Amino acid sequence: MKISVLTMFPELFPDFLREPVIARARGLGKAEISIVDIKAFAGGSFRRIDDDTYGGGAGMVMRALPILRALESVKEMGANCHTIYLTPSGVPYTQKKARELSSLPGLVLLCGHYEGIDARVLSHVDEEISIGDYVLTGGELPAKVVLDSVIRLLPGVLREESTREESFENGLLEYPQYTKPADLNGDRIPEVLLSGDHEKIRLWRLRASLKLTLRHRPDLLENRVFTEEERKLLREIQEEMPGGD
Ligand code: ADE
Repeated sequence: MKISVLTMFPELFPDFLREPVIARARGLGKAEISIVDIKAFAGGSFRRIDDDTYGGGAGMVMRALPILRALESVKEMGANCHTIYLTPSGVPYTQKKARELSSLPGLVLLCGHYEGIDARVLSHVDEEISIGDYVLTGGELPAKVVLDSVIRLLPGVLREESTREESFENGLLEYPQYTKPADLNGDRIPEVLLSGDHEKIRLWRLRASLKLTLRHRPDLLENRVFTEEERKLLREIQEEMPGGD
């Protein structure tokens, strides 16, 4: 996958590119990442990238032209140009979206700053994505979130089993995991995990996933289609809960 990140702060990326999974994906040739400095496209002796907002108001807005020139330059390099603008006003990012993006041949991630970007850039963007209901100083952290979540899903980067059973992949949060020792100063792992009975372990995990999702993210269960088995487990869990009958 060819990825270009358009940013005013390219110096924020080298450390990220050295993180183990990202470095592995690059080393294997699964991800080719270029960091493009929008400032280089500002032109003029002051290289002015931001300006006051029309209509007045606090803060500065990133000018359209340098961004459009930077976008044009990555298109000229032949990168596939599915372009995403990271913004708190975007559509909430999900694991489903990460999967979808991981099947594309390329991505362009546009990081905003200041109070935002000139809105005329938006007609050159395919999607606007938010990583959560809070405001960060810029789009660089969100771009890293998107990069990390997409790159780890590229075939051959991680073992497929390790991403298949993760939280959100089946619409539920992941069940708890344990490793040695089985007895930690008297705090023992659930006995079923030592039983070697794969069916019992599968059921315990499904039940644990449902229980955790009900407790932490009941919203995930609202529009989910349940199997008969899940429905039965969920009824049992709800009956066990305080206030359940
Ligand atoms: N830029 C600033 N805050 C953001 C957020 N929550 N998501 C995406 N981009 C952002």
